[in-house]
Amino acid sequence: MPSYQYGDFQNEIYINALNGIVPKYPFDYPSLERAGSEVLPWWVLSYLAGGTGDEHTQRANVEAFKRYGIVPRMLNGAYERDLSISLFGIDLPTPVFMCPIGVIGICAQDFHGDVQIAKAAATTGVPMVASTLMMDPMEEVASHFGDTPGFFQLYTPRDRDLAASFVARAERAGFKAIVVTLDTWTTGWRPRDLNTGNLPELRGYCLANYFSDDVFLRRLDKSPKEDLNAARLEWLKVWGNSLHWEDLDWLRSLTKLPLLLKGIGSPDDVRRARDQGIDGIYCSNHGGRQANGGVPALDLLPEVVEAAGDMPVLFDSGVRSGSDAAKALAMGATAVGFGRPYAYALAIGGTDCVAHYLRSALAELDLLMAIDGYPTISDLAAAGIRRV
Ligand code: FNR
Repeated sequence: MPSYQYGDFQNEIYINALNGIVPKYPFDYPSLERAGSEVLPWWVLSYLAGGTGDEHTQRANVEAFKRYGIVPRMLNGAYERDLSISLFGIDLPTPVFMCPIGVIGICAQDFHGDVQIAKAAATTGVPMVASTLMMDPMEEVASHFGDTPGFFQLYTPRDRDLAASFVARAERAGFKAIVVTLDTWTTGWRPRDLNTGNLPELRGYCLANYFSDDVFLRRLDKSPKEDLNAARLEWLKVWGNSLHWEDLDWLRSLTKLPLLLKGIGSPDDVRRARDQGIDGIYCSNHGGRQANGGVPALDLLPEVVEAAGDMPVLFDSGVRSGSDAAKALAMGATAVGFGRPYAYALAIGGTDCVAHYLRSALAELDLLMAIDGYPTISDLAAAGIRRV
């Protein structure tokens, strides 16, 4: 068992309060969201908070967690807990990670959010899945990971050479896995952003990986500094590749790193992915930002886990707290991703507030395991979930 128990974070807070030190950042999600919304520029907030259609799926993702619960087990000595997991042979101290968020760079007040998140990963041991869409090049971001492994999320460009270049750069920069997002080869219908014509990437933000890539630069007559307009229009041309199953062999050939598919919700797709040599599944509906399809990602998770067999299953969409993470783990997810919450935390207080948010969520998860009598993540997974 590890000597540090994540739940001990609360003792620090209560003892500090005795000495007149009150917490700097909120602990509950609604306060975090509210405080983050107050400091973000309107156009970043619109992009972060919005989803597709009437945003029903995004709300349903969150609501879904209320329909499941964990049965407590007593008298089994969960005085100490071990939250560690192993993912592709990598030992991780906890079963959570930070989801790829393409605009995370501009959620920070200095617009270097990718670097700040990498630093939060380094201090907490919680891995960052870094989006293709960064404000700083991936090499710079990866240099701040410390001992925490990082994963690279690929938006597969239409230009295959550019895709190969991104993967090779990620490998060289030390990323430990490639996550290919499948559900975003085009942008979903997002009325909140359509109302103001707001697409940050098209304004030239978060394109550092493209603008630092020789393959992309060769497509331009002038550098992005000289002609930003031409560069961003070229980005739009190469951006979205609507992949087919036949393309997986090519993707597989690009890297020896573990390859995961993000956006999977159907057990048939899980089986087909496994048959084609994919190493892991990432069950997600993109937080309701892509299709307003209505089925909460959490409701799809049990079937995905069953079809995956011994393949790892990462999960996100609607996770707001440590107890949400516990529920997804009890359904069999190998690791659980936080999305929007850490973006609001970043807006409020940079790396420091992101670390605060992650430590809080881990404390809640740890204390739930302590009180409900599950000393390890595998105990939690074996316990299963009760539909409420
Ligand atoms: C995302 N997400 C995302 N996913 C991805 O694979 N690459 C990306 O660049 C982005 N960008 C992005 C931007 C913003 C503003 C958001 C909110 C989300 C989806 C993300 O990885 C994750 O699936 C969702 O955030 C999960 O939903 P919740 O829990 O944040 O509501």
